[in-house]
Amino acid sequence: MNTLRHLLDFGSLTEKEWDSLCNEADKIRQNPDEYASARRGAVLATLFYEPSTRTQLSFQTAMLRLGGSVIGFSDPRSSSVAKGESLRDTVKIVGSYADVIVIRSPLDGAAFAASLYSPVPVINAGDGSHLHPTQTMADLYTLKREFGRCDNLKIGVCGDLYYGRTVHSLLSALAKYKGNKFYLISTESLRLPEYCARELSELGAEYYEVRTIEECIGELDVLYMTRIQRERFASPEEYEREAGVYVLTAEKLSRAKDSLAILHPLPKVDEISPEVDDDPRAKYFAQAENGLFIRMALILWLTENRSFAQKSPPSAKYPIPAERICTNPRCVTAREKYLPALASGGRCAYCAHIIVG
Ligand code: CP
Repeated sequence: MNTLRHLLDFGSLTEKEWDSLCNEADKIRQNPDEYASARRGAVLATLFYEPSTRTQLSFQTAMLRLGGSVIGFSDPRSSSVAKGESLRDTVKIVGSYADVIVIRSPLDGAAFAASLYSPVPVINAGDGSHLHPTQTMADLYTLKREFGRCDNLKIGVCGDLYYGRTVHSLLSALAKYKGNKFYLISTESLRLPEYCARELSELGAEYYEVRTIEECIGELDVLYMTRIQRERFASPEEYEREAGVYVLTAEKLSRAKDSLAILHPLPKVDEISPEVDDDPRAKYFAQAENGLFIRMALILWLTENRSFAQKSPPSAKYPIPAERICTNPRCVTAREKYLPALASGGRCAYCAHIIVG
């Protein structure tokens, strides 16, 4: 029996596995017809507790283009979650119908929690403000296509570094490549959270915190713009204080290298002026398209050699029990009270926040 693999964090992939996924994505792009029946009969479930366009539809398209089928919900109010069903029960049930589960949640650590109870692979499609590993796959695959590498790059990351899960995943992944230099462009309130900054330091990453795009744009190989995450602020007033601070314009771009790649996980709101879309350095629509091919490769890998009705006991190697439950109010453990307290290296195993005391 195959060991059950999940994709909860990009960092769980080995270099060899990541290279192999990129090669597979390239092959799919070149010969899509060869893959049209690759997962005939397989079912992918998308459990989306938060809105999505790209991630949900690209996963659904990916499975359909592999010959499989899709089930799921995009509004938890239309599922039994609205009647109070736990994440654990939802995952156990859906895992008995589907061959792979893709989950997005507003709660940090929800995908990891789901993996504790799922009999099939779980893919993290974004958990609160924690991680978004398949966006990171799309981002790194795009860098490979644009630069032929993911190392020795000067990367500016701009906007909501506090709540932006795509930023947290991306920085964690790129900090493991040699020679990368990071410019973290944010307001004081939306700086990278302490638990992420500590990871960068532990990895020995070279990074600078700056307040404006202008300070570093001339240096950059990559500018990763992000949206201010309105839905994560405590009040509309707090959001309004941060909204509109960073706008990438053609005028600012006039100081950038010709070889700059502008990325954005999308959706964008007002942080990129419309005229920038026509600049050849804008790669964000290609980046979203790349996400389809890399997600097809991911589905193929996670469901490799698994037959319908082959279910596995929920996962194996999990971190040690913690003495204290996590204090992060947005952690899934704060909502789903039956979850065991688990820790790894002084951090909550669900959301990676540092466990104090
Ligand atoms: N990048 C991203 O996660 O987009 P969606 O929210 O539309 O899925």
